[in-house]
Amino acid sequence: MAVTIQQLIEWKKQGRAIVALTAWDYAIAHLLDSVGIDIILVGDSLSVILGYETTLPLTIEEMLHHAKAVRRGVKQALIVVDLPFLTYQESPQQALRNAGRVLKETGAHAVKLEGGYPAMTATVAYLVQAGIPVMGHVGLTPQSIRQLGLRQQGKTPEAGERILQEAIALEQAGAFSIVLEHIPHDLAAQISQKLTIPTIGIGAGSKCDGQVLVTVDVLGLSERQPPFAKSYTNLSEAIVQAVQSFATEVRDRKFPE
Ligand code: KIV
Ligand code: NA
Repeated sequence: MAVTIQQLIEWKKQGRAIVALTAWDYAIAHLLDSVGIDIILVGDSLSVILGYETTLPLTIEEMLHHAKAVRRGVKQALIVVDLPFLTYQESPQQALRNAGRVLKETGAHAVKLEGGYPAMTATVAYLVQAGIPVMGHVGLTPQSIRQLGLRQQGKTPEAGERILQEAIALEQAGAFSIVLEHIPHDLAAQISQKLTIPTIGIGAGSKCDGQVLVTVDVLGLSERQPPFAKSYTNLSEAIVQAVQSFATEVRDRKFPE
């Protein structure tokens, strides 16, 4: 059965861990969906695949292009699409225009945006009242890399309290779930306990309601990866070996036979 936002909240109540991964095209999305991944995120970590240094240059057109490909590969998972940098921060109206494009043009189910209270709560409420499901994202927010770097957030009691309040404000604004990125594990546990909506952690410890990783990291395709990522295979190595074998066979006139 197709995953819904109501289902996610039900799974939180039941203590069933939610599994999320990123995807950037049809082929990857189809494989993830066939395994039964619950949430497929067309994250702006797509920037890695496109060769950008940060998530900042990514455009709404690029995002739509990849989200459409992902949509074609998915039957079950809930598809969430990141709104790129400066496609939603200007005003709730700008956010609605671009989030609307995501739902109407790609067939994805929800959008994700970074930031909490006070910056984003009015925007989240505006999208939700229009019928657009929104996933929040607090803690380390990579679109703020020029302000924050990529350091862990919420380390002092005051900073931790601020992130907790942001998460509460996002839930009150109507977000259906929140990503907690690179924050102390006890803080993530506290937030997860406080909220009714599911938290999806990345670098936030085991007490979140679900976990997400960037699939290029999981597959060993990234040139550098954050300390909290985990590779479950090394596709870079496998690809190099396969391509070398092909090149050698062609040069030795062994392929085709
Ligand atoms: O862009 C992305 O991949 C993300 C995840 C790390 C949550 O936002
Ligand atoms: Na992202």
